[in-house]
Amino acid sequence: MVWGMTDAVPHTNSAFRTAVVPAAGMGTRFLPATKTVPKELLPVVDTPGIELVAGEAADSGAGRLVIVTSPGKDGVVAHFVEDLVLESKLKESGKYHLLEKVRKAPGLLEVESVVQDQPLGLGHAVSCAESVLDDDEDAIAVLLPDDLVMPRGVLETMARVRQKRGGTVLCAIDVPKDQVSSYGVFEVETVPDAVNPDVLKVTGMVEKPAIEDAPSTFAAAGRYILDRSIFEALRRIEPGAGGELQLTDAIALLIKDGHPVHVVVHRGTRHDLGNPGGYIRAAVDFALNSDEYGPSLREWLTDRLKRADS
Ligand code: G1P
Repeated sequence: MVWGMTDAVPHTNSAFRTAVVPAAGMGTRFLPATKTVPKELLPVVDTPGIELVAGEAADSGAGRLVIVTSPGKDGVVAHFVEDLVLESKLKESGKYHLLEKVRKAPGLLEVESVVQDQPLGLGHAVSCAESVLDDDEDAIAVLLPDDLVMPRGVLETMARVRQKRGGTVLCAIDVPKDQVSSYGVFEVETVPDAVNPDVLKVTGMVEKPAIEDAPSTFAAAGRYILDRSIFEALRRIEPGAGGELQLTDAIALLIKDGHPVHVVVHRGTRHDLGNPGGYIRAAVDFALNSDEYGPSLREWLTDRLKRADS
């Protein structure tokens, strides 16, 4: 089903025009809230995480968002549907700033959903999007909605790298060594002719390695530009880390086949909305930057931290 902007998917970015957002997970780390509210709808200040990620996809030139969802998570896609009754109420009562806020999500880009009916892993979730791609789409972007990568712009850099070097381009962050086991980790080498030193060639990738087995501290940060050949690789993988079909393992197959894979190392901020601790940090970070809530939050926090032991 298709919601949001109804025109044909525009050709807005020459590297990709479809952005896939896997959002089928159960959000177990957020129970009990996620018993009825999908994790992706939890607000970062006043905006659901999924809308922030959709905004990033639209900014990067995507014309269509494919949300991979699971039965019972309809609210995630409903967030992108116009609510004409709410809009007319807000208009009648002159609440134009709120009207602007509720109109934002449906106006960002065309939104479509596909259902992942079994929780078989991220690789399986991405493979569910293949059926809705147009024949001429030779790459897709994937954005994990747990990851907020800021400031925006890394996807544009990644798109430029794909235009120059072809293949698959991923986003890496340099994480402390004791955290590598939470991520997909890259084995990398420098690119002799790279103008940007943060563009590296990937020679291997492993999902959630033991600390002693990690090939580096460069970890996948939830932003991917995947060549369409990923779907053929996804058909070849077996269950991996955690017994799940891992996107990392399909990327590792592409590397083995000699397909070019690069990373752009992101040197800014990355928040992990997937657990309460990371989510709170993101909310505080966004709130501190807000004209509306920032000044009083800063004052309260400063005072609260003086009483840190109470
Ligand atoms: C997923 C990916 C992993 C990546 C991480 C980034 O793991 O499988 O490679 O580094 O997202 O957030 P998850 O956090 O879903 O376990």
